[in-house]
Amino acid sequence: MTSPVDTVPTDLDLAAALSTLRERGYRHMPVTRDGELVGVVSLRDLARLATIGPADVPRGLKGVVVADTTVSDVRGNEGFYHYRQHSAIDLSTNRPFEDVWRLLIDGSLPATRVERDTFRAETDPLRPLPPSVLEVLPAVARTSTPLEGLRTALSMAASERGLRPVLDLDAAARRRDALFLSALTPTVLTALHRLRRGLPVIEPRTDLPYAANYLWMLTGVAPDPAATTAVECYLISTIDHGFNASTFTARVIASTGADVGSCVVGAVGALSGPLHGGAPSRALDLVNEIGSPERAREVVTRKVVAGERIMGFGHAVYRTDDPRSVMLRDVAIGLGGSLVELAVAVEKTVVEVLAEMKPGRELYANVEFYAGVVMASCGIPPEMFTPTFAAGRVVGWCANVLEQAVDPKIIRPRARYVGPPPPQPVPPIAVG
Ligand SMILES: CC(C)(COP(=O)(O)OP(=O)(O)OC[C@H]1O[C@@H](n2cnc3c(N)ncnc32)[C@H](O)[C@@H]1OP(=O)(O)O)[C@@H](O)C(=O)NCCC(=O)NCCS
Repeated sequence: MTSPVDTVPTDLDLAAALSTLRERGYRHMPVTRDGELVGVVSLRDLARLATIGPADVPRGLKGVVVADTTVSDVRGNEGFYHYRQHSAIDLSTNRPFEDVWRLLIDGSLPATRVERDTFRAETDPLRPLPPSVLEVLPAVARTSTPLEGLRTALSMAASERGLRPVLDLDAAARRRDALFLSALTPTVLTALHRLRRGLPVIEPRTDLPYAANYLWMLTGVAPDPAATTAVECYLISTIDHGFNASTFTARVIASTGADVGSCVVGAVGALSGPLHGGAPSRALDLVNEIGSPERAREVVTRKVVAGERIMGFGHAVYRTDDPRSVMLRDVAIGLGGSLVELAVAVEKTVVEVLAEMKPGRELYANVEFYAGVVMASCGIPPEMFTPTFAAGRVVGWCANVLEQAVDPKIIRPRARYVGPPPPQPVPPIAVG
């Protein structure tokens, strides 16, 4: 111990005590009151108290920044989001899916046709189902929805291909695994859908781009150009969206150093939850339930009075129009039809009713509202709405996994223990 003894008074605030300990290189320090020793503090205990404790973190980690990213960002108050340095909406309307895929995975858009074709030449051949997966898929389809079956199939494909922990791989090998799983996902989903309906699996076509090939594998007919463009806009506009639950899940798994397959399978599980990707079809159900524009006010008012949420409205981040729903509304109007006309009228009335009944909450149509309308108008059945979402989002998950894999720090928060105080004697099991 140094002489004279360094002490801290009991009324010293936490931050000052901590910096005293740090500056002087002590691990423990006596605490005195009126010259009398009253205790000893340790740097470790002080540091634990001084860091943000569980009590300071909002429920659900809402708004907490947990990582740095260059993949994408959502500016909720402005109604704007971007992938790397480009507006997501501009990309949706000006570039094919593969260009945006390359932007997310490799960091830049292809600048020339040669660069675009090179990326396609690399990814198109990765589409077919591995034979062992194709073999088990009929059995999987008997008991699983396409999203459930996707977990099984990707897990198998990853094992069969020998995907190794990202911790043990260089950047090129991780990227190769990410491209493989992304390219395979639409093939698995459409195959499972067809098998569940007793239809033959349709092989992917390498002459078709991502979105057109997806519709081809789903329906088995040459895709309509307008439907292809609409689905492509939808896929691009939902390819990534900040630290949503499935993306965060993928990153947590990547932070353990696990293989890309484990990360994507975990993300699919998170996406399947009704509070995340589970419900674009519920917004379409609402439109169908309303049935005609003149019924909209009455139906919506009744639901809000009953304390129900109006599906496809409100957003955790946007406090203004969700730019994806604005863009998809235009896409839907371009497709035309009675469903679209009804949806546009319903949206207007719902926004009015919510503004009257929930003033100040800023509730507008979110991406789910027009996603269902667009997909239905393109001939995608409701049970494939969420799988279609996954067919695009898998690229966002992979981009985040590759980014996380570079950071060797494991994501390991803690919980606040609120159970009975330990230690308590372990009781013997009661007889009888
Ligand atoms: C998306 C959602 C979960 C975001 O929730 P959030 O930002 O955390 O908002 P809160 O749950 O705190 O709600 C704030 C207020 O707005 C109301 N509200 C939010 N969304 C609403 C909706 N769709 N219909 C009716 N009221 C809604 C809530 O009742 C609450 O009102 P209160 O202050 O009187 O209690 C929420 O808007 C919702 O449940 N929407 C419907 C489901 C949906 O479309 N999900 C897809 C999202 S992409």
